Amino acid sequence: MTRVDDDGLICYSGGVFRTMESTMTKPIRVAVTGAAGQIGYSLIFSIAAGDMLGPDQPVILQLVELPVAMQALEGVGMELDDCAFPLLHSIELADDPMQGFKGADVVMLVGAKPRGAGQDRSDLIKSNGPIFTGQGEAIDAVAADDAKIIVVGNPCNTNALIAQSRAKRIPKKNFTAMTRLDQNRAVGQIARKAGVAPADVHDVFVWGNHSDTMVPDVSLGTVRTGSGTKSVVEAVSADWLGGDFDKTVRTRGKAIIVARGKSSAASAAMSAVNHIHDWFLGTGESKITSMAVPSDGSYGIPEGLIYSFPVKITAPWQYEIVRDLKVDDATKTRMMASAKELEEERAAVADLL
Ligand code: NAD
Ligand code: LMR
Repeated sequence: MTRVDDDGLICYSGGVFRTMESTMTKPIRVAVTGAAGQIGYSLIFSIAAGDMLGPDQPVILQLVELPVAMQALEGVGMELDDCAFPLLHSIELADDPMQGFKGADVVMLVGAKPRGAGQDRSDLIKSNGPIFTGQGEAIDAVAADDAKIIVVGNPCNTNALIAQSRAKRIPKKNFTAMTRLDQNRAVGQIARKAGVAPADVHDVFVWGNHSDTMVPDVSLGTVRTGSGTKSVVEAVSADWLGGDFDKTVRTRGKAIIVARGKSSAASAAMSAVNHIHDWFLGTGESKITSMAVPSDGSYGIPEGLIYSFPVKITAPWQYEIVRDLKVDDATKTRMMASAKELEEERAAVADLL
């Protein structure tokens, strides 16, 4: 039998008194910017439902918006209350990251302008880049010492670099950008082509920038079929992999904008959930996942660029870049072109770093 006192502090179970603090899993504080936007509207409900941090992990949501969007955010807060999520310990709303990032263990930087039809993501750099100076400084000032950061707002790799440059207190390794959506797109395409479920496709990943220069890589990929597990290259044709597949994955963001008139939202939210989930809880049946992380010089990628690599999760909140993969010359050339593009983006925001 368990009894909780009025003040919520003491419980009784099996004849032993103890404080709730010592028996409950401590809530994880998750700050989300752009929480009233398109992605935010999918993302925060999924976090509150336990999809991101697991079914036993309480969460405190610290939702951050621009002052002009605070009324909309109040409405989202009401809806969160109305869901009565068992894992949602509490919600805090803020129009200032210095307040909204206080004590945050996970910071999800989503709030930024999306591109329109006819724009490249890098065209957003001048308008969105400055958002990440102030947010990097706020992370530095008030987030938890070992806060983990994912940048979704585009161009996400370079925005992550900007935020990282302003947050000297936080380990550089903790600043990541999202390329999981690109990986998920690759998995979805392969599953459909091979006639299997996405759960049967593993270890497909993406190198480079979250842009058209990204390099989807299936060299480690496997497909589970009724007759056993095959490599992706055995399961689908090389022509398709080098043609439609590659182009579809690299340009999917644009195709969605053309079709919907708005950029991807639910799939982006799901991928952000996947990114943090796997960083914390591991990759399950897959050995690796794609994360854009600070380059350590592996594969000749200039050190410090936030570049998508295959990573292994070695412990909760610990990743390692997978080194020493054999990379063919054609792939290496494309990987370096993506790195060059990131160097150009870095040069374009030199004043913000
Ligand atoms: P949206 O316009 O629907 O929502 C953005 C929200 O961010 C708005 O509510 C806005 O008020 C808020 N915002 C803007 N500046 C802010 C700031 N400084 N602080 C706090 N909040 C702020 O846009 P969206 O569709 O949700 O997309 C958000 C970003 O994510 C865009 O830059 C988009 O390009 C990017 N995106 C990235 C990926 C990826 O794979 N990395 C995928 C999809 C979208
Ligand atoms: C995506 O890949 O869907 C997002 O980055 C949005 C965009 O601008 O393409």
